Amino acid sequence: MPNIVVVFHSGYGHTQRMAQAVAEGAGARLAPIGADGSLSAEDWAALDAADAIIMGSPTYMGSVSWQFKKFADDSSKAWFVQKWKDKLFAGFTNSATMNGDKHSTLHYLFTLAQQHSGLWVGTGMMPSNSKAATRNDPNYVGSFAGAIGIPQFMPGSQRRYAVDFDGDQRVDLSGSVDDAIGSVARFLEQHGWQTGQPIAVQAATNGAPDPALLQAGIRPSLKVAELADKGVRADTDPQGTVALIDLVSPNKDTEYWLGFENFYVITRYNRSSFYAMSVFQLGEEIRNRLCAQLPATAGNRARYCRA
Ligand SMILES: Cc1cc2nc3c(=O)[nH]c(=O)nc-3n(C[C@H](O)[C@H](O)[C@H](O)COP(=O)(O)O)c2cc1C
Repeated sequence: MPNIVVVFHSGYGHTQRMAQAVAEGAGARLAPIGADGSLSAEDWAALDAADAIIMGSPTYMGSVSWQFKKFADDSSKAWFVQKWKDKLFAGFTNSATMNGDKHSTLHYLFTLAQQHSGLWVGTGMMPSNSKAATRNDPNYVGSFAGAIGIPQFMPGSQRRYAVDFDGDQRVDLSGSVDDAIGSVARFLEQHGWQTGQPIAVQAATNGAPDPALLQAGIRPSLKVAELADKGVRADTDPQGTVALIDLVSPNKDTEYWLGFENFYVITRYNRSSFYAMSVFQLGEEIRNRLCAQLPATAGNRARYCRA
């Protein structure tokens, strides 16, 4: 069994998740670099004894984090006597945006490995560039040099919206389902979510509606009654204010929906109407299942069951 060590820094947990996945896949030991850029004596010893070193850092300002750089500078002691010569090396990173200048980070890791006279191992994976590609493909971003994580939350969003919802005195979005759900709820609340108010209702039209109604945008500004006058009808309060949503799919009739303020709020998380509709419909499905499965108390009925 080869002796593999994953040495990494993570400021906000994303690189840690990657490191854990890499370590699980490779049967490796984790060596976390601390918030002050330090590594424990045991982890330095583990690196000296390793057959392979996999390095991970978030991409901060187009390169490794300063904590990782401190580790790299501290590794000059090992470099001086070429202690890590001929070991295998590999690397991974992630960032908030699709490109994010992540390659500069991988390039730095590669250079560090070469300074230690190591042998670099790339991903060896063909990129995921067919029409069938999805974000769940391991090499979705298409890198040969090293593993590149897909984009995710900016730490700023985590700072603004994340909450400790399970009451264990810490916010843990990756390890606590309660914290994750509570934090999404806070995101929605901060963007104007109206509890108990409708989200969207399907509309019937006489053919394609007036394009001006769609051009009015995703923010509710149209009166339901006015839409009815223009041939867009739905079973909802005529005084309500809505946006007209069109869901256009190839080879299918376009679906038209009226989106309320709460639909607009979901699109603050992801601008796609398809995304918001999926969230809404999945939520409805979960609510219906809970209604059918939970004991038929008045509280459960009020919370989960449609009147
Ligand atoms: C100081 C700082 C600089 C950043 N620079 C970049 C950047 O250059 N490109 C990018 O796409 N994301 C950038 N980000 C976002 C991080 O790369 C992203 O949130 C990453 O997943 C954080 O990983 P971590 O949770 O392991 O710290 C930056 C974040 C911080 C805090």
